[in-house]
Amino acid sequence: MATDSLTVTDNRTGQTYELPIADGAIRATDLRQMKVDADDFGLMSYDPAFLNTASVRSTITYIDGDRGILRYRGYPIEQLAEESTYLETAYLLIFGELPTEGQLAAWVDEITRHTFVHENVKRLMEAFRYDAHPMGMLISSVAALSTFYPDALRIDDAETRMIETKRLIAKVPTLAAWAYRHSRGFPYVYPQNDLGFTGNFLSMMFRMAEPRYVADPVLERALEVLFILHADHEQNCSASAMRSIGSSHVDPYSALSGAAAALYGPLHGGANEAVLRMLAEIGDVRHVPAYVERVKGGEVKLMGFGHRVYKNYDPRARIIKQTADSVFEVTGRNPLLDIALELERIALEDEYFVSRKLYPNVDFYSGLIYQALGLPVGMFPVMFAIPRTAGWLAQWLEGIVDPEQKIARPRQLYLGSDERDYVPIERRAAVEAASVA
Ligand code: CMC
Repeated sequence: MATDSLTVTDNRTGQTYELPIADGAIRATDLRQMKVDADDFGLMSYDPAFLNTASVRSTITYIDGDRGILRYRGYPIEQLAEESTYLETAYLLIFGELPTEGQLAAWVDEITRHTFVHENVKRLMEAFRYDAHPMGMLISSVAALSTFYPDALRIDDAETRMIETKRLIAKVPTLAAWAYRHSRGFPYVYPQNDLGFTGNFLSMMFRMAEPRYVADPVLERALEVLFILHADHEQNCSASAMRSIGSSHVDPYSALSGAAAALYGPLHGGANEAVLRMLAEIGDVRHVPAYVERVKGGEVKLMGFGHRVYKNYDPRARIIKQTADSVFEVTGRNPLLDIALELERIALEDEYFVSRKLYPNVDFYSGLIYQALGLPVGMFPVMFAIPRTAGWLAQWLEGIVDPEQKIARPRQLYLGSDERDYVPIERRAAVEAASVA
């Protein structure tokens, strides 16, 4: 009869060990008992970039990369994108269940009441250079919020954690919109709390002299869908950063600022910005084959393609492509769309991409929608960070109450010099010359 264990023979010693398997994994610390002698530290596993290491047990988001499946708390992303709202999805991620009508109304009301920020945060944002990257502004201003809410350090208190969670979900759109207004030299627009979450965000972004900004409902819904699709994605680079920083028991503002910094990179949430820059560089459908050759030659990457987990099709990309169609009906067709479609067509047929299982990811089409909404490319990663705030917080909250959470602290394989004596600076040249000779 099969047992849930792994039998390992250490060929250095001939000893055999039985390691329990739970939930499809062995515990890396169980390897430590395998030693060549009493002084040996014990066997470690080496896994740069965590390609095959689970660092948490989680009940939030499920991904099956081979089958292109993404679910939040068990609910398929397709159904949430079709039926839900961003704030309802955020509630689901944070609390684990869909809200009742009363719970949702209270949640929306509480988030809405926290959309304003202290005037000094506004002054702080005004101090940035006129051309500051909005993502840099968002990262800094989220970190700055920790100084306005020193109580947030009481991470052991469930009520405090929930207040900071609501504040962050509510305030990040305000900071994001102001980062955009700053880049345009426009006055910052205060939240308008009789509008919905997405409508209020669009108002803070685009309202000028009109007393009330009402967004086109198609565009508002498209943004809502994008927010739902980006809300969480299990243990990706920024979620791992959130958990890792949070494991030091710092306040959630500081941790979330670090997570946003991780998102900023072009291999993660910065990819949507990189896609648009790439499409603009290609410039014309006729240049696509030559660009694909450069990708295959290893000269450049095809931004918006490939994923660490999805080796089939990113289900979010499929929904975004449909959303793009509805947006373009309102805004007119983005001229870069033809280049994107041609890139996708060629890449999906080409052996290089097929054999490496490289498909469009969430970032391939989202930038085209953001551009159609009138946003500059620098705002694209910011647009990702707004909804991902809920996911980061869900991951942080889960980690804080996890009895197995400890401060994140990986091991290393030290391959540097053995002990050696300090050489005074005046003797170093002579010592180096002697070692070369
Ligand atoms: N263009 C060309 N070749 C690629 C690409 C790409 N976009 N992505 C992977 N490859 C190649 C890579 O060179 C390697 O080839 P070989 O086996 O010959 O060395 C092979 O495919 C496997 O790639 P990898 O680097 O081992 O894959 P990874 O899981 O470490 O990286 C990734 C995943 C998303 C970082 C990578 O695919 C990439 O850089 N994509 C472009 C950036 C991007 O679109 N990022 C957004 C990801 S989705 C949203 C998010 O996470 O925020």
